[in-house]
Amino acid sequence: MLEKIDTLYEQALAELEASADGEALSAWYRRYLGRKGEVTLLLRATGMLPKEERAEFGKRANWLRDTLSAAYAERAEAVRQEELARSLQTGALDVTLPGRRIPTGGLHPTTQTLREIYAIWAEMGFQVYRSRDVEDDETNFTLLNIPPHHPARDMWDTFHTTTPGVILRTHTSPGQIRAMRDYGENGTQPIRVILPGMCYRYEQISARSEIQFNQVEGLAIGRNIRLTDLKGTITEFARRMFGPDKRVRFRGSYFPFTEPSLEVDVECILCGGKGCPVCKYSGWLEIAGCGMVHPVVLQNGGYDPREWSGFAFGMGPERMTMLKHGIQDIRYFWGNDLRFLEQF
Ligand code: PHE
Repeated sequence: MLEKIDTLYEQALAELEASADGEALSAWYRRYLGRKGEVTLLLRATGMLPKEERAEFGKRANWLRDTLSAAYAERAEAVRQEELARSLQTGALDVTLPGRRIPTGGLHPTTQTLREIYAIWAEMGFQVYRSRDVEDDETNFTLLNIPPHHPARDMWDTFHTTTPGVILRTHTSPGQIRAMRDYGENGTQPIRVILPGMCYRYEQISARSEIQFNQVEGLAIGRNIRLTDLKGTITEFARRMFGPDKRVRFRGSYFPFTEPSLEVDVECILCGGKGCPVCKYSGWLEIAGCGMVHPVVLQNGGYDPREWSGFAFGMGPERMTMLKHGIQDIRYFWGNDLRFLEQF
């Protein structure tokens, strides 16, 4: 009888190893450990043995039942894992896995600033005009009173394409010519537009300058527009953008397409005018260039400069974003670093 236990032990273990799925395992369990299983019957037979054999046999039979139960539990878990792995490989859905969070994107900091800028100019009656990124040399320079070979062209380092005369715009100002020709109806209609978009310059990249950046150009053409209109309009914009208590100042400057030309400074937003590294300890931050549209440019746009006048400005949204958030390096904007972008 004791040999029977050994044979049963070996046979059961071998069959257990061979049971490769849940069904085979249940059958195995029924066969050995179930109510009418072989091990169960063996245990029950203990009572029928001669008295002197009973103790030893009972001990061995109990050991057999416990060992096989433990082996069964272990094998069942292994088979469960195997089945899981197999079902994942064949693409079946594992509903026990925790859900994956869908990452939501956000608006680029410059886009956020641009939207603020659009909203403020819209309130003030300026509509958006989309001009092209790929420009011709004539519109980007010549029609803006910058003839070929004029030294003023050095103000804008240019990306040329393989097609002669076709360039990437170095500023949004060529949009002035296109807006005047599109909306002016041969110099008979007033205009109030902003022209946002990407500009490109062939420059050494540094903390302060990038080879691509946005500008928002503004253009107002009418019959009696004067320098005071320009100053009042820009000042109002700055108050709405940076706060009603912020002071604004204008400095004389030079652009070939405006006369007179000015640059606009706002009291440093970070230090409140006391002086800090961002404003280079001047207390002021430059946010735009502007001026009265040059008579030559008005003429190139189809207007008679003796009857019509206007102002134009160009502001830098990345610079404004840097000021607002205290960003010290413009290279973050196109660095595609989520550690930067996710902060906004
Ligand atoms: N286009 C000029 C620049 O890129 C800015 C400007 C726009 C100045 C309109 C005057 C009027 O520097």
